[in-house]
Amino acid sequence: MNQSTNQNQKPQFQTKRPLFDYESLNPTREDDDSIMDGFHYKSGCRYHFFEGVKYPLPCDTDETYRLKINYSISRYCWKGNIFYSPLENELAKGGIRVLDVGCGPGGWLLDMSTQYPNSTFVSVDISSMIRKDQQPSNMGFLQCNIHNGLPFPDNIFDFVFMSHMFTSITENQWQDVVDDLVRVTKSVGWIELMEGEYINSTSGPVTREIQTQLTILMRSRGININICPSVYNILKILKILKMKYSLVKLLLLLKWNCWRIELEDMFKISQKEMDDYETTLNIHGFYVQKKIILQKVKILGNSGIYYDVLSC
Ligand SMILES: C[S@@+](CC[C@H](N)C(=O)[O-])C[C@H]1O[C@@H](n2cnc3c(N)ncnc32)[C@H](O)[C@@H]1O
Repeated sequence: MNQSTNQNQKPQFQTKRPLFDYESLNPTREDDDSIMDGFHYKSGCRYHFFEGVKYPLPCDTDETYRLKINYSISRYCWKGNIFYSPLENELAKGGIRVLDVGCGPGGWLLDMSTQYPNSTFVSVDISSMIRKDQQPSNMGFLQCNIHNGLPFPDNIFDFVFMSHMFTSITENQWQDVVDDLVRVTKSVGWIELMEGEYINSTSGPVTREIQTQLTILMRSRGININICPSVYNILKILKILKMKYSLVKLLLLLKWNCWRIELEDMFKISQKEMDDYETTLNIHGFYVQKKIILQKVKILGNSGIYYDVLSC
């Protein structure tokens, strides 16, 4: 873990609305399914439309703002430790190439590229949410659909990071996405994934009911809300780190009501309930070195003793 990051650092993003042009990102608040401009609009939110993309969350100013707050809270809860892969010295020395897949508004990448000015940071996302005037010179962004393959040659990144993408990747797509992350990672590079565990024992009855409804709704899109065990299996990971905190869940649930407006009353009860039950959200951080993944896959193929291999 990168312990030397500033432990008392305050969240970088302010809790005020960003100053960029709200109307241009949310040009209409009326429902509109015509997809004339490549988007459709529902319950005051704007959504992408890409053939075959199941991502259910909006792409507009409110969502950009939510993702920024989400990241700021996470970083605060993690006491500034925003990655686990043992690359801190190399990053500081410079010359390291980092890729953030599905970067959203780029909170993680902005922190990393500022903290390690001698390394290079590249990000991809289907939406362009990063303000150009905020990008340091060692950071770049490419708009792309990861399900068409990452637009990079093999073996070029030292560190590939991907966080909170469970809504972007259907259960059937996970293996291909991970294979592509491995492909673009250098032979001894590191891959790090972070995903939340959205069903857990600390929820009250109303929150649990919402989680059940969301699970069903997501299933209908092929998305598994409880993806961590599958990610674990796909990566054949060496180490799992778990953290617990409570605030992020509240923010995540707040936004879901955009597309399930009938659940609005339940969301209000759930917010209070989460305080009463001290509901927490586990975030699983998976980090693994490419050469070790390849070895593991090979050993697994020969022996099939998964858990023995993991404990080596
Ligand atoms: C929940 S957000 C997570 C953002 C960021 N990684 C974080 O941890 O805050 C999911 C991101 O995936 C992006 N996304 C969804 N489907 C995608 C696709 N097919 N290709 C590339 N990006 C995608 C969305 O635009 C969004 O920025």
